[in-house]
Amino acid sequence: MEAGTSADPVQGSAVFPISSRVNEAGHLEVGGCDAVELAAEFGTPAYVYAEDDLRARARGYMEAFAAHGGDFEVIYASKAAPVSAIYRLFAEEGLGIDVASGGELHMALEAGCDPARIYLHGNNKTRPELELAIRSGVGHVIVDSFDEIDRLEALLTEPLDVLIRVTPGIKADTHSYIQTGQLDSKFGFGLGDGLAARAIEAVRGARNLRLRGLHAHIGSQIFELEPYVKTIEALGALADDSSLSGDEFQLLNVGGGLGIAYTAADEPPSIQSYVDVKVEGVRRVFDPVPRILVEPGRSLVGNAGITLYEIGTVKDIPGVRTYVAVDGGMSDNLRPMLYGAHYEALIANRAAEGPEAHVTVAGMHCESSDVLVRDAVLAAPHVGDILATPATGAYGHSMANNYNGVPRPPVIFCKDGNARVVVRRETWEDLVRRDL
Ligand code: LLP
Repeated sequence: MEAGTSADPVQGSAVFPISSRVNEAGHLEVGGCDAVELAAEFGTPAYVYAEDDLRARARGYMEAFAAHGGDFEVIYASKAAPVSAIYRLFAEEGLGIDVASGGELHMALEAGCDPARIYLHGNNKTRPELELAIRSGVGHVIVDSFDEIDRLEALLTEPLDVLIRVTPGIKADTHSYIQTGQLDSKFGFGLGDGLAARAIEAVRGARNLRLRGLHAHIGSQIFELEPYVKTIEALGALADDSSLSGDEFQLLNVGGGLGIAYTAADEPPSIQSYVDVKVEGVRRVFDPVPRILVEPGRSLVGNAGITLYEIGTVKDIPGVRTYVAVDGGMSDNLRPMLYGAHYEALIANRAAEGPEAHVTVAGMHCESSDVLVRDAVLAAPHVGDILATPATGAYGHSMANNYNGVPRPPVIFCKDGNARVVVRRETWEDLVRRDL
């Protein structure tokens, strides 16, 4: 079929990676690579990323900021996909790196990221994690609790730059599991309860902690931008009340959280409008304007990735439901089970065929709730078909697990028709490697 005709369900879709299409063979193509050939060469399940898509999103953020002029930094929240090749790619694009643990810090350092541009997060950073951060010269630690302030101060022999994580008491309109800005939160220092103001005093009183600014992240998969404006106003009031200025207020990190399209029904704001709201909000509230930091994860990697599976069984329960079982599931994508997240699915080897079957795409795990797509509309599914779920680039690989002894999938990068493995497939041998 001709690419670009209205019969191509992929080209121009906000859900698939940019430049995806149905190729002349009628197969899904991502990053110039035929998905059916990818499945044959690398096996299934497999996470497949279009490298150009990752770069385009990073540039989208950088250009959106550059259009405003002024001082800014875009930081990749690497929990969304902590993969060495992705760390390197975003570092090449000029992004800083957010790590949420010693493990992510280790991965970022091993990937060659500049430690000075790494920001360490976490609501309970352990002593070894803090020691690694200090030893490796991490640029900023975002302090999250009074206990951490004490722990850090006890370890330091020279000054370290820190930001204070504030929970502004603002509820973002998203799944409650991924709200983080409300007062009742394990993260950060609250505003309403006066803890944030006390944290500023505690850092000021610590010999080796150098206060550099404030941080707030109100949640994830957010479609409404208004809560960001409220957050910035709340931070403005805190800065005023605590007379934060000058060296103590060089940086304002307004977090990540921009939502993405998981299905065609989702219409998230653009990167540009998200950046506009944050920059305009900060400029309205603060004078002088500190350097503005954002920390996106999902919106950099989510739509850049798809997962390929092979269909192993098609079970029709007349009058009830058809179950299409694939060779992965909750071990490679926990999100449907954890958050009730919705995804689309496409038969990659007959990608242009009109949808005719209403089915449930299930995984291969010993759990009835191991369902990837509850209500999928597909071309008639057959055993051996390759099934693609788009928008799995964020929090798929990073939350993958080995339930039922299922090895984790490889990560494949595609660009201009060339594919390369950037994380190899786990093997059955790997599963016993740590056992003594
Ligand atoms: N900064 C901080 C401090 C964060 O905690 C997070 C995400 C981000 C930035 C990046 O947020 P993003 O731009 O990706 O929304 N596993 C969940 C998402 C948990 C997000 C945790 N923090 C999911 O699969 O939806």
